[in-house]
Formats: sequence, structure tokens, C-alpha cells
Amino acid sequence: MNKQAFGSTADGQPVDIYTLTNKNGMQASVITYGGILTRLQTPGRAGQLDDVVLGFDDLASYLKGHPYMGAIVGRYGNRIGNARFTLDGIEYKLAANNGPNALHGGLKGFDKVVWQARDASDAQAERLELRYLSKDGEEGYPGNLSVTVVYSLTDQNELRIDYSATTDKDTVVNLTNHSYFNLGGSSEPDILGHELTLYADRFTPVDKTLIPTGELRSVEGTPFDFRKPALVGARINQKDEQLGFGGGYDHNFVLSSGGGSLALAARVREPKSGRVMEVLTTEPGIQFYTGNFLDGSLTGRGGRVFTKRSGLCLETQHFPDSPNKPAFPSTELKPGQKYQTTTVYRFSVSD
Ligand code: BGC
Repeated sequence: MNKQAFGSTADGQPVDIYTLTNKNGMQASVITYGGILTRLQTPGRAGQLDDVVLGFDDLASYLKGHPYMGAIVGRYGNRIGNARFTLDGIEYKLAANNGPNALHGGLKGFDKVVWQARDASDAQAERLELRYLSKDGEEGYPGNLSVTVVYSLTDQNELRIDYSATTDKDTVVNLTNHSYFNLGGSSEPDILGHELTLYADRFTPVDKTLIPTGELRSVEGTPFDFRKPALVGARINQKDEQLGFGGGYDHNFVLSSGGGSLALAARVREPKSGRVMEVLTTEPGIQFYTGNFLDGSLTGRGGRVFTKRSGLCLETQHFPDSPNKPAFPSTELKPGQKYQTTTVYRFSVSD
């Protein structure tokens, strides 16, 4: 595993970049700031390696602010309604950083902290272990939360992310990775021609602030039906209240697997390059987000401008606003328990 200095934060904390390589030449680069996956080189049909995630080449661009590109998101990925929740009869108030709601862990979430890194490679794979202690009360959340995230790159062309956490007080946890994928590679302008399958019969419709209503709605007969492969762009502009709220797809899908054990959640195929990405997860949900809020104001690696729909996110997760939705799978973590989830991004090529 290659390690290099990547600059330092405004308060002087050094940041490193680690590059994991597998026997096929596939590479993943991760920085200790935000645990951000900055670059992911995967082979196309003709074997050509290209970057399939949106990212920047320098720390300054990440420090300036960006919509969670490639970052580890926590303590609570996705939204919590009205920026508050009650646990054990105590109300916890969070920063309202997305309209009235809390989004992605707060003002300084796990995407903006420096993680302790260790090379944890073994005979099977290069592995980067990242650790962070989120103090009791940080961003309004209760309990000292000790978090470990391990990125592994296997010789089967899988980028595997194992998340674990323990707490010393009852709390809520929902960790994910927020990579924007474009399997067409670094010069493909958008993801509308990507073909997507989502192994989900239902999704969680939202209100206009993108908080789930609590309903689990069948995808049948809606633009949210990706049970058979469909182009991302085929129905994205249809007149549909839910697509209107999101400005496109920005919704949590209820995975048919139900979560708990590693199962196929999504498959994406980019016809021109032939790249295929399968997403497997132990989580019960996945947020499919089509980069609707990317507005061309950020320029990344190689002068690439991040415009609307230039990447898509498949954020494996528990459902948004679970702390306020007792009927959703629970995101509570208690002392003595271990939070443990795994997501695998598996790459291959097809005709
Ligand atoms: C959310 C979007 C948000 C994006 C970047 C996604 O997970 O669902 O609504 O704009 O993250 O912050």
C-alpha cells in the first residue's frame, strides 16, 4: 500500500493519501480527511483503467466544501426530520443543516474529521483501517462512539467497506459512503445512460423536505421500478410528485433482502465502457441519488466540472429519519452491542 502526505487541515492536522492496488492493477485512493475515496481506477471492456468516482486531486478542494464526495458519512447518514429525535425519553437537538432537517451527521460530520489510519493488509487483500472517536455530545449525539471503517481491495475487483462502532451510552448510528459513481470514466459527462437494477420492491416516499412519510410504497407502475434493468435517464423527467420533490431520484429503496446478511442490492452497467458495478450490502436500505444538486460550481480532477447528473450515489444505509420512525428498522446502538455493517462494490465488465 502506498502512503503519501496530502497536506494539512486549517488547524494543522496532517492528512495522508493511501493507495490500495490489487493484482489486476485496480486502484483505490483514500485520504484520512473524511475517509474520502478520492479515486477508483477500474478496468473497462478493453481492459482500460479509468476513474469511476468523482473526486479532487488536492486537499484544498475538499476543505473548501463539497457535497460529501466519496466521504464516510456519520454519525447519522441521511436526514433526521426537524433536526431532533427522542431516545430513552430524552430529546436530542441537532444542527438543522438542510432546511429544517439534519443531514449527514451535522455541521462537522465524519466527512470533515481526520481519521487515524493503519495498514491492515493481509494475504487476501490490501486493507486500510480508519478509526475515529466521536465524543459524547459531538454534533448533538449522545455517547462516546468509537468507529472503525476498513476499506479493502480484493483481487476479485471488489472494494469492500466494513463499518463497526461501539458506544458507552444509548445512541443512534447510520454509517455510509457517499461516492458519486460514473462508470463511463473520467470523460463521460453524465449517468443518464447507465442501466440500473435495484433489488427493491418498495421505496420510502418523502415529503417536500425529503423526509420519509413512513409509508413503504410499492414501486410497481412507478418510475421507481428498477426491478428489471432500466436506464437511469429513461423516466427521470416524468411528471411525478416524488421525482419533483427530489429534483430527480433522491430516495431510499427498501431492499428485498431485508438486510442482516450480505446480499445484492444494486447492479449498474454502463454500456459504452462495458463496466458493471454490483453493490452488495448487509443494510436494509439504499439511497439512490442522481446528483440532482450538482450545479457546475465545482471542478474536480482533470478540470472536470461537476454538473447535474454527472455522478450517481448508491448509499447503503438504514432508512432516513429512523430515530423518529419506530416502524423502520432500528438505528439504536446500546453499550455492549456492536454496530457492524458491510458493503461491497464489485466491478466487472459485460458486452
Ligand atoms: C442526499 C441528497 C443530498 C446529497 C448531498 C444525498 O445523500 O440524499 O439530498 O443533496 O446527499 O448532500
